[in-house]
Formats: sequence, C-alpha cells, structure tokens
Amino acid sequence: MRDFSHDWWRHAVIYQVYIRSFADGNGDGEGDIVGLRSRLGYLHELGVDALWINPWYPSPMLDGGYDVADYRAINPRFGDLDQAQALIDEAHALGLRVILDMVPNHTSWDHRWFRAALAGDQQARARYLMRPGTGDHGDQPPNDWRSVFGGSAWTRLTEPDGSPGPFYLHLFDASQPDLDWTNPEVHEEFISVLRYWFDRGVDGFRIDVAHGMAKDAALPNLGYQPGMLEAPEVEDHPFWDRDDVHQIYRDWRRVADSYDPPRMFVAEAWVDTAERMANYVRPDELHTTFNFDFVRAHWNAPSLRGAIDRSLGALSAVDAPTTWVLSNHDVERQATRLGRADTSGGSGADAPVKPGSVDAELGLQRARAAALLMLALPGSAYLYQGEELGLPEVLDLPEEALQDPTWERSGHTIRGRDGCRVPLPWTVAGRSAGFGADGSWLPQPAGWGKLSVEAQEDDPSSTLNLYRAALRLRRNLDGVGTAELTWLDAGADVLAFRSGDLICALNLTDAPVPLPEHSEVLLTSGDLGPDGSLPVDTAVWLAVGC
Ligand code: GLC
Repeated sequence: MRDFSHDWWRHAVIYQVYIRSFADGNGDGEGDIVGLRSRLGYLHELGVDALWINPWYPSPMLDGGYDVADYRAINPRFGDLDQAQALIDEAHALGLRVILDMVPNHTSWDHRWFRAALAGDQQARARYLMRPGTGDHGDQPPNDWRSVFGGSAWTRLTEPDGSPGPFYLHLFDASQPDLDWTNPEVHEEFISVLRYWFDRGVDGFRIDVAHGMAKDAALPNLGYQPGMLEAPEVEDHPFWDRDDVHQIYRDWRRVADSYDPPRMFVAEAWVDTAERMANYVRPDELHTTFNFDFVRAHWNAPSLRGAIDRSLGALSAVDAPTTWVLSNHDVERQATRLGRADTSGGSGADAPVKPGSVDAELGLQRARAAALLMLALPGSAYLYQGEELGLPEVLDLPEEALQDPTWERSGHTIRGRDGCRVPLPWTVAGRSAGFGADGSWLPQPAGWGKLSVEAQEDDPSSTLNLYRAALRLRRNLDGVGTAELTWLDAGADVLAFRSGDLICALNLTDAPVPLPEHSEVLLTSGDLGPDGSLPVDTAVWLAVGC
C-alpha cells in the first residue's frame, strides 16, 4: 500500500503529464482529460505516486497554456470541471496524488483583469506593471529589460480611443502581462485560487516562475538579455530571485497547512546556487523545489556528484528533501542531450540548439543509467512523460509546425521547446501511434510507434520495463528514497553510494569496473560484462552485502 502519510512529498515519484501531448480522448489531435483518465491505469502500473499536470485552464495557448485566462476553470479543449473532478477522484482511488500548475507571475492578456485594464479600468491596471513610455515622444519602453523569449519585455497599450497608452511588462510573451505583486488584490486573488482547487481535493501545486514575482520598484536598466537563470555575479537582480518573493510563500504555506491532509508545493525556481534554492524551502515556506542543478550537471562524476552533494547539503540545512529531475517540458530530452558532446541541460526557452551531432544509442544508454542514479537518490523524483519510453527530442519538426513563442520572438533563431512536447506513442500502429487522432498538434516523426508503450510492454529489456522494475524496487526495499546517502569508494569516476538497503553504482570511467561488494544484483541499466563487471555508462542496483 502506498504511503499516505502527510509528508509523502519527501520521497514521492511524481510523473509530469504534459496534458496536450499525453492521450487524446476525443480525436481532435490534442491530449485531454478523458485521454488522461483512460491511461491512469498505465501510470498506476508504472508505479508512480503522483501526477503533476501542466496548465489545463482556459487559455489562448500562446505559451502552451502558461498564459492563463481563468484560473478557476478548464480549457474546453481539455475538458470541463466535471471531468477534472472525476480525474482527481479516480486518481485518488488508485492511490495517485494530483498536483496542478499555478502560474502567478503573469496572466494571459485574455484574463478578465487584463481585458478590463485594456478597457481603461485604472484599478485593473494597478494589478499589472504598467509605466509611461520614455524618450522625447514617450514611445520608448520604460527600461531595457528583455523578454526571456526574445525582444523587449515591454509592449505599449492602445487606449480604447485608439491613442497610445502606457507600456506593460511581460518577462515572457507579450500575451503574458506580469502581475504587480505589491498590490494586495493580487495576493488575495491567488490565495482564493489556491483554496478553490484545494477544496476540490487537489494535493498540491507546482509554482511556475517561482523566482520571478518580486520586481525592483525602481525598474533599473539591466544591460543584457536575461535567461531563466542568472550569472552568479549578478547580485540584487531586479526581477529574478529577489528576497521579497519569500513572503508570498509564507502566506501560501499557511493556506496549505490549513487543510487536512496538508497540501504541498514545488517551486520552479531557476536560481544560481544550492543555498539560494534552499531559501524557497525553509520550514515556513514551500515544501520542495526543483533541483535544476541536477539538470544542468554534465555527464561526468565530479559534476554529478557535485550537484548531488551541494543540494543534499543545502537542503538538509533547512530540513527539506531534495528533488531530482532530469527533464521537463522546457528542457531537451535526456536521451538526446546525453548523446551530445555537451551533456548539460537547461531551459530551451532561451537556448539555441546545441551544435554537434547526437549519438542516439549512447544517449539512450546514458539516459537509462541516469534513471537508475536518480531513482536511487534520497528525496523525491520527477519523471517527464515519455522518458520512461526513452523518447528522444524531436529535432527536425518542420518550421511551420513550431508553436513555442521563442521561435517568433527570437526572429526564427531559437527553435524553442516543441521537440520535447511531441505527443506520446501508445501503440505500434494506428491513429497517431495510439495517441488518438489522425494527426496531432505537433507531428510525430516516422517510426514513433516503435518506441510506443505497446512495443515495449513485453520486452524485458525495454526502457519502460527498466522504469517499472526500478519503481517497484524503490517501493519495496527499505529506505530507498528516504535513507541518508553514504558514498562508497569504488574508484575515481565511479559514482557509488548506499541508501537504505540499496547500493547504486554508475560507471563514468572509460573502461569496465568491478561491482562494489554486494549480495545480489537487483537491476542494471544495461548488460553487465561477461566477467560480471560494470560497463561504461551503465548503472547497477545491488542489494547490500551481509
Ligand atoms: C515556466 C514554464 C514554461 C513557461 C514559462 C512562462 O518556465 O515551465 O513552460 O513558458 O514558465 O510561464
């Protein structure tokens, strides 16, 4: 039986559902709630503890739904509130918890507040960051801030009478106006939205751009194009990771704690150091935060071990668990990334495609090893849909199919994040490889069905069965995901540690190495050598020796 204690989030395995690409229940080419409900059994069997569903609210979908028009409703293309409630209830009946996505940094320009602001309502305007233009004619933006997706972070309003109005700030797309979090009405609204979904049984929220809501009121010039994270030398950044953001989370924590059982949060905060990351999960703030240091790590022992040690150290100082994450809907899929010369990951919203070719076989071999590494570490782990199938990034989507606003805003120089959002293959053949339509909103590449759930189901060596076996062991062995990590000396460039009843070893040298002392080989990401040694780029799970 799953662990239903209140701090389940300390060691849960959470599966990220990019709903638009998960399963299409009505055959319109986009995933939806009906499709997701029909596949809950699959997720249960996979062995995860919870789902995080990307935004499913009404939205013009100009940034994949991160442009929310109404926080208390469901986008008709995904379903309706009754279906959402049925999904929450059915997931709970299977022991799966449900985490939604909260987008508090900005609304859509279709949100009723922004529409009222456009219509000239001054109270509504005061909920956004609006400033007069500068320059002799007032037609220049208030400062030099740039959108993460490219271009100026300011767009000028047109007044109802057709005359030019003030500029509004949007750190992302122009369709995503930033809210002014110094306005108490904004605070009240989001507390009310949190309660709305908590009252419906939702178990927690992932907080989008959790490091972005507080801005320097003086709006100083920055002098360069920001990414989702900043260079360590930038102190007192005018909009990323400012100290003021933390008071918001203290208030939210009190709301989550007022429920029985208490609800949880996970922050998307791209920050510079493990210490800054730990600030988000101090005891009276959020519960967990994505560990992007792990995504950014390079495929070598010092880099991976450094990311592990830094996050365990900084988070244990505030008594928070670590999270482990290899990819998400913003990051190049690990089966591709790890087959490149530069194996480090980051948000694709502002990153050009990396140069150099991809060794797909090597990438998948490493991605499988990375999965065993991640799932053996203490803390919670996030899986991004399709990684359990070893899906690669789709690198050759036709330009006319690209939807990420980055593509347009970068003047067609950065392709963006669509390559990791291609709809899942469920069956070898059939309509969109079982996704559910004759076509899909992003085209699936030829041969996608060969990577499908159906194709992997009965193959004991498939990536799907590797994940299933790992999740089963993680659940059944004592201490995996919860016990402290102890490093073992298995030689330079071999990551080997014990956690609970498990030893995990990953060979990052360039030759096979002997296995650490053990009583039984439980699981390997690839075949062991004929002499029982651990090949390069391979991970093994071992039972502790007597
Ligand atoms: C987060 C989301 C990303 C989105 C951005 C703006 O980084 O993960 O997909 O584009 O916020 O909301």
